[in-house]
Amino acid sequence: MKLTYLYHSTILLEINNIKIIIDPFLSKNNFFDKKLLYKYLNIKIDYILLTHAHYDHICDVELFASNNKDVLIISNYEISNFFSKKNIKSYGINYGSFVKFPFGKIKYTLALHSSSFNDGSYGGNPGGFLLHTNKGNIYISGDTSITYDMKLIPKFGDLSLSVLPIGGVYTMDIYDAIIASDLLKCDRILGVHYDTFENININKEKSIEKFYNKGKKLILLNYEESIII
Ligand code: NI
Ligand code: MN
Repeated sequence: MKLTYLYHSTILLEINNIKIIIDPFLSKNNFFDKKLLYKYLNIKIDYILLTHAHYDHICDVELFASNNKDVLIISNYEISNFFSKKNIKSYGINYGSFVKFPFGKIKYTLALHSSSFNDGSYGGNPGGFLLHTNKGNIYISGDTSITYDMKLIPKFGDLSLSVLPIGGVYTMDIYDAIIASDLLKCDRILGVHYDTFENININKEKSIEKFYNKGKKLILLNYEESIII
C-alpha cells in the first residue's frame, strides 16, 4: 500500500493498482502548487473517500469526478446522497459493520466533530475510516477530537499506521494524538490537518520529538511525498 500526502487531509492511497483519494482539497488550498493539481486530475482515480462535509475535505470532489466518470464516492449516507444528486456514483455507509470493496474492507468510525456543507445544510455524522486490506490495516480518523472509542479500533485487528489530525483547535493536537496512539495501540502516526491555516500551525521538529520521547514515530510528509506500508 502506497500513501501519498497532498497537503491538509488529502491523501492518495494506492492498493494493488486501485487508486483512492481521501478528502480532496487541492484547488482552494493556497499552499498547494496548482500545476500539481492537474497532474493529479490526470491520474485515474477509482474511489473518493470523504470523512465529512466540511469544505476543506470535499471541495474538489466534483473536479475529480468530472475527470473520472467511473469513480465511486464512499462516505456517510447524507454526503453520498448529496453527490448522487449530482450524478456522481456514490456508496453511502454509516457507523456500522465492515463493508467489502475490491481494495479491502472499510468501517466508518466515530469522529467527534461536525459535518455541514458550506451552505449550512446537513452533512450527516462526521467519521473516519478503518481500512483493512491484504497490504495492512490503517485507520484514518478524519477531523476529530480524541475519543475513548478509539480504544475499540485495535480490537478489530492490529494497525500498521494511523492517520490523525494534529493541528489542534478544530481537531486533536500533538498532545492528544500521543494519547490517541496509546488508545489505538499504534505507535506509527501520520500527522495531517496542520499548517494549512494560521491557527493550526505546528512546530514540526518539536512535534516529532514529543512522539519520539514516548517511543512513538510521528511521520510528517512533504507535498507529494509517499510512504509504503
Ligand atoms: Ni472539519
Ligand atoms: Mn477540516
